[in-house]
Amino acid sequence: MALFPIRTFGDPVLRTAAQPIDEISSAIERLVDDMFETMYEAPGVGLAAPQIGISKSIFVADIGEGPFAMINPEIVELSGEWEWEEGCLSVPERFWPITRPAFARARGLDLSGEAVEYSGDELLGRVLQHEIDHLNGMLLLERLSRRVKKQALRELRQEALGMPIT
Ligand code: NI
Repeated sequence: MALFPIRTFGDPVLRTAAQPIDEISSAIERLVDDMFETMYEAPGVGLAAPQIGISKSIFVADIGEGPFAMINPEIVELSGEWEWEEGCLSVPERFWPITRPAFARARGLDLSGEAVEYSGDELLGRVLQHEIDHLNGMLLLERLSRRVKKQALRELRQEALGMPIT
């Protein structure tokens, strides 16, 4: 297994839609092992492959109920509404209250290539939405209100340039 550096805001791979996986090879199995190791080390509750620079449609997650991975996942159902202080390993040490649907159901493949579904409220629902956003090339910043997003981008860009935040 190997630890990967986590790509952060500004890296174009995070804004690129991930490619679907058409064959679950041993390389994909190794990738999943590496992603779990990287996620637990971070530590985080979810990690999508683009976050380690690999533009493939796969994420891993563990919200404390056991690890799981989804290949080529898509959201098939959303309902309700829930506000949560959401963060992202690719935008380190920042959290914003973000309202999204409370419940999410996602469909994809497991590591054996079998169809699999995960669904849940609140934290699980949020992780499914957040990770699948990553696979669509979207960061949580896109889920902020216009005003908050503008301010956040300003701060992140200044930080990247090593300038003081005013
Ligand atoms: Ni994230």
